[in-house]
Amino acid sequence: MKAIIRQKAGKEFSTMKVQNIESSKAQSGELKIKMLSSRINPVDMDLMKGFPSLKYKNPQIGGIDGAGVVLEVGQNVKDFSVGENVFFYRLFSDIGTWAEEITIPANYCAKIPTIIDVKEAGTIALPLLTAYDSLTQLNAKKGEKILIHGVGGGVGFQALQIAKQLGLFVIGTGSQSDKAVLDKAGLDQFIDYKTQDFSQVLKVKRS
Ligand SMILES: NC(=O)c1ccc[n+]([C@@H]2O[C@H](COP(=O)([O-])OP(=O)(O)OC[C@H]3O[C@@H](n4cnc5c(N)ncnc54)[C@H](OP(=O)(O)O)[C@@H]3O)[C@@H](O)[C@H]2O)c1
Repeated sequence: MKAIIRQKAGKEFSTMKVQNIESSKAQSGELKIKMLSSRINPVDMDLMKGFPSLKYKNPQIGGIDGAGVVLEVGQNVKDFSVGENVFFYRLFSDIGTWAEEITIPANYCAKIPTIIDVKEAGTIALPLLTAYDSLTQLNAKKGEKILIHGVGGGVGFQALQIAKQLGLFVIGTGSQSDKAVLDKAGLDQFIDYKTQDFSQVLKVKRS
């Protein structure tokens, strides 16, 4: 099968190559997945450069996020069946989703709700968990205002949807090209970062 493999340390895509490698079998506690989609997260390039917690495998497949269909269910896995669509993220210490097939611990996988397209689901897990962590740590109360920079991006768009669920008034900085979809998701105030200075618009002091 084909996979995108790290050749050497470096942040550019030229350090990655498409290679044919052996596909693995699902071990105990794992699922084998036929990959259908994946996202390139900003941290992926840092991981390709070198990350203290990551012991690089040989070959090392890139990628953290993904979605696909279950091909094999390893022993001791209860909640998944062959043919189900799942999405997932991998730990920074155990990356590898940019391949036609992968094996992954089942406890990092979730079934894809039918309202979400399987290809879109491959872009969700890490940005969603990042946004969820950040917002729950803020402990914001219903009716409070929140400013989300980069609200049209992977993390920002998930944060917008969670913030609206929490009943917050959301102000977001982003690009004009994303405004229509942001409005549809309930953004209360949009600031075009290319033409407006948010600190002037919101009359806040920048440190
Ligand atoms: N992805 C993750 O799971 C994750 C996890 C932890 C931390 N982070 C960090 O969170 C940040 C965002 O990551 P992401 O995955 O959401 O990236 P992304 O999908 O590339 O989104 C970044 C967004 O920010 C917008 N943007 C760029 N410059 C801006 C500016 N000056 N003011 C306001 N918006 C601006 C971009 O708009 P245009 O492209 O239209 O200009 C884009 O919509 C990065 O610093 C990343 O390292 C991400």
